[in-house]
This record gives sequence, structure tokens and C-alpha cells, in this order.
Amino acid sequence: MAKMETAELETDLSLFKYDNLEQLPPRYRDLEKSERTERIEAALSELGDDVVILGHNYQRREIVEHADFVGDSYQLSKEAAEADAEYVIFGGVTFMAESADIITDDDQTVILPSMEASCPMAGMAEALQVDAAWAEITDAAPDEEIIPITYMNSYADLKAFCASQGGLVCTSSNAHRAFEYAFEKGDKVLFLPDKHLGENTAYRLGMEDAIAKWDPWDPEGKDADEVAESDIILWDGYCQVHERFRVEHIDDIRTEHPDANVVVHPECRREVVEAADVVGSTATICETVENADPGEQWAIGTEIHLTNHLQRWHPEVEVLPLCGDACMDCNAMRQIDPNYLTWVLEELVEGRERNVIEVAPEEKELAEVALDRMLEI
Ligand code: 13P
Ligand code: SF4
Repeated sequence: MAKMETAELETDLSLFKYDNLEQLPPRYRDLEKSERTERIEAALSELGDDVVILGHNYQRREIVEHADFVGDSYQLSKEAAEADAEYVIFGGVTFMAESADIITDDDQTVILPSMEASCPMAGMAEALQVDAAWAEITDAAPDEEIIPITYMNSYADLKAFCASQGGLVCTSSNAHRAFEYAFEKGDKVLFLPDKHLGENTAYRLGMEDAIAKWDPWDPEGKDADEVAESDIILWDGYCQVHERFRVEHIDDIRTEHPDANVVVHPECRREVVEAADVVGSTATICETVENADPGEQWAIGTEIHLTNHLQRWHPEVEVLPLCGDACMDCNAMRQIDPNYLTWVLEELVEGRERNVIEVAPEEKELAEVALDRMLEI
């Protein structure tokens, strides 16, 4: 069973952004759960205040149980900014650890236990590709100021690009505020990479008629006239974990559980968000269940680990996965496993830093501007 928990090891290392990727030494692959827990606790007590562990809501139970703070990506970026520890161990994905490295002081080190934890959606808008598209998009509306906004789920170089063009970062909990900020400064918004969060935000602001889509991979999917006429341009990225949810799933839940309420993440398709009772970031989803009365039923439209955590954390509420067994886990988040956590902690005890995320200085400064603009809105 321990073997199953460690993610695929024979990976093509060239696929990863950081070339200091180190995979798990064989001696850590078959640890028994009880031994591993003991070793993690021993390493943590040795390291004391030198280490803080941040865990995203989608992390496995064994990671969340060791985390000093569990939350959504906005909360985790704030925690990283406030952390005093020398080492921030990030239970999350690469773009989150990059943001932590940007926000923390220079003498703090951010470690992503497995650097294979790369969000596929973040990879759908590479800075070089966006730079090329930017020329076409700005040419289509030469007299108007376009403000780029990137979702937190993007790499540091894209965040830096957005800052250089007067734009900023947002998370799923403040996308509407980022749009408002952008429309105070400029005429149009280019939103990357998640078209669903962008569309859901446009609806929230009553701007659903102002949307143009930009599909960088499809020559037919880039219409300069549409861009010229529309105030919101949406890059064609998406999260496959959230695209899986359909209105039929909500209909089925309501047929089987007539009293059930539905809460979904704004990375879901527009029609799913429209049919749900509540929409919000993973923190909002947690609060919704936390504030539910005993006996209430809530169907959850997000990554399955969080649904499982909510069932455990709130046994008084009936928590249902929105599409049953078809609900997905996030393959990127799953890469952070407890064997990796044991390894990076024990290496720190020995004075060795493994799998450090260090954003290039030229990207760091600008990306920080984009993140600071978000923290200020
Ligand atoms: P939150 O910002 O809601 O934590 O979501 C991050 C994420 O990756 C959702 O897929
Ligand atoms: Fe990326 Fe989707 Fe995983 Fe979130 S759930 S980290 S958007 S792949």
C-alpha cells in the first residue's frame, strides 16, 4: 500500500520547470504509515519553529494532518507572507510554491516536496505564448487599454508579464475585485488562463454580453473583430477536474436527495455554476459546510480530497460528492505524498535542502508587483 502512495517515479524530468527536481530515494518508497508518522513528528519536533507546513485544501489527508495551516490559495499566500519560519514546506502545486517564494523574505526557503506537482491549467498559458498573443490582441484594439489579469493558477513569468502591462493576479475568491480594479484603470480585460472562472466572473459583474473567447491553439478561435468589440477577453484554459461536473449531476443529486444543496467551485462550467446554490473558492466551500445546520445535505462540486475532508471534519452534515465515483482527484496535488514529506523534513534535519522552489530574480520582482496588487484590492 505504501508503494501505491508515491506517485509515478519514471517521469520525463524535462517536463518540469525547475531543473533541481529530485525524486524520492528508494529507501523512502515503502515506509509503513505508523513509522512514517513517527518520523515526520520526530523531524518536526527537531526543526521546531524553523519550519511551517502549508497545506492546500486539496491535499491528501496525511499531508493536511501535518499542516500548520490548511486553506485556499488566497489564504495560503497570506500565510506565506506572514510566516517567520526559515523553511516553508508547501503542500500544494508549483505555482503556489512559486508565489510563496515571491512573497516571503529572501532569507526564507520554500520547499515543494515533489516538484512533479504541476497544475495542468497553469501550463495552458505559457508566458512566451501569451506574449505573442498579446501583440495580436493589442493590435485588434489599438486605441484601448487592455489590462491582463492572471489567475493565481499560472507560473511566475506570466504573473510578471501581467505586472509589466499594468495588470495583476487574482484567486477564485477575489476575481470580481480584480476585474473592477482593471476596469478602473483600463478599457478591457484579458483574463488567463481559466475561461470558466473568467466567464463566471463576467456574469457576476453583469458583463456576460461583453465576452470574447481567445483560443491560442485554434486559428479560427481568435477573432480580432470580436476582441475589438468586447470588454472581456477569455483565454481558452480550463481545469479538467472541474470541467467534469455537468448540470445532469446536479439534476441527479436533486432527484435522489430532494433536500440537498449544491456548492461548486467557480472553475466549473457556467451552466453548472448557474444551477448550483452556492459558488465559491475552496475556502467558501469549507465555510458553507461548516455553517450548515446538523442534518443538512450538501453536494460538493470540487476536487474529491476536499469532499472527503469535509465528510470527516463535519460528520453532523451529510456531505455528498456531486458526481459520485466520477469525481476526480487532482493529479498534480496528489504528487505531494507523505513519503516525500518525510524525506524533505529528514533532509532538513541533516542540514540539506531538497526540492527548493526559487523564482528567477528577474521574474520575482515583477511577479511580486502583480501579487501585491492583488493583496491590496
Ligand atoms: P482555491 O483558490 O479555491 O483554493 O482553488 C485553487 C485551485 O487550484 C482550484 O482548482
Ligand atoms: Fe490545477 Fe485543477 Fe488541480 Fe486546481 S484542481 S491545481 S486548477 S488541475
